[in-house]
Amino acid sequence: MKISVCGKGGSGKSTIVALLAKEARDRGYRVLVVDSDESNTGLFRMFSFNNAPVPLMELVGGKRSLQRKMGQPNILKGTSIKTSQIPEGYWMGKDGLMLVSIGKILQSLEGCACPMGVLSREFLKKLDLQEDEIAIIDMEAGVEHFGRGVETSVDSVLIVVEPSLESIEVAKKINDLAKGIGISNIWAVLNKMASDDIATKVNGALKRHGIHVVGRLNFDTGLFESSIDGKILAEGKVVEDIREVLDSILSQVTK
Ligand SMILES: Nc1ncnc2c1ncn2[C@@H]1O[C@H](COP(=O)(O)OP(=O)(O)O)[C@@H](O)[C@H]1O
Ligand SMILES: [Mg+2]
Repeated sequence: MKISVCGKGGSGKSTIVALLAKEARDRGYRVLVVDSDESNTGLFRMFSFNNAPVPLMELVGGKRSLQRKMGQPNILKGTSIKTSQIPEGYWMGKDGLMLVSIGKILQSLEGCACPMGVLSREFLKKLDLQEDEIAIIDMEAGVEHFGRGVETSVDSVLIVVEPSLESIEVAKKINDLAKGIGISNIWAVLNKMASDDIATKVNGALKRHGIHVVGRLNFDTGLFESSIDGKILAEGKVVEDIREVLDSILSQVTK
């Protein structure tokens, strides 16, 4: 399964990627987390790794070189990439969990993020997963990645929805775009819900648009507080909730 975690900025994509990845790893899956958000710098901390991996962008000669190669068919060498073939330094990992990063925007006036979208698409397309492996992609905010075709290389899309109109609107757009390119599995997860009434309201809005909700996480103060230190502290209800989300996903996934 290659699952792209999408949604509005700040809705909780990285948090849910980290929680889902740890839960899947604890169940015996080997998990590859793909950081495809060029503006995100701290995903490695959520897994308690000391450093971020060297971005795959460097493997293909850096951003300028990739910009020149963008239209070419084989940006990444070979017909397929197994997780065991990702060169040392370009992944961080331990105990069945690996993290790779596509690339980052580090300077102003560096140019647009298109090359990174193209590299994400090519990497995910060639990524050859084994039966016991799952790839979870931490996608950039919004919908631009659809324009770059990144989702043509995944089989599942999980939309993170926080209780705001904007987040619901982005979810609708993502659902339509994902449907349009024929993705078989499209789900939403409600995040940061402060009450049952709010969850019912958001759920209703998504349902009216035909979006299937696979679970709900409440606003969790411990989780929020730990994020200020770049960490993820998941205890109690939130652990149960993410378990349910993964159960639903695994029971519904089709290739
Ligand atoms: N269920 C939750 N309860 C409390 N805070 C949350 C929850 N999910 C995410 N957050 C907080 O919201 C902020 C944005 O989350 P993040 O995962 O970085 O979003 P994104 O990756 O979508 O930009 C962080 O401070 C994070 O700790
Ligand atoms: Mg993020």
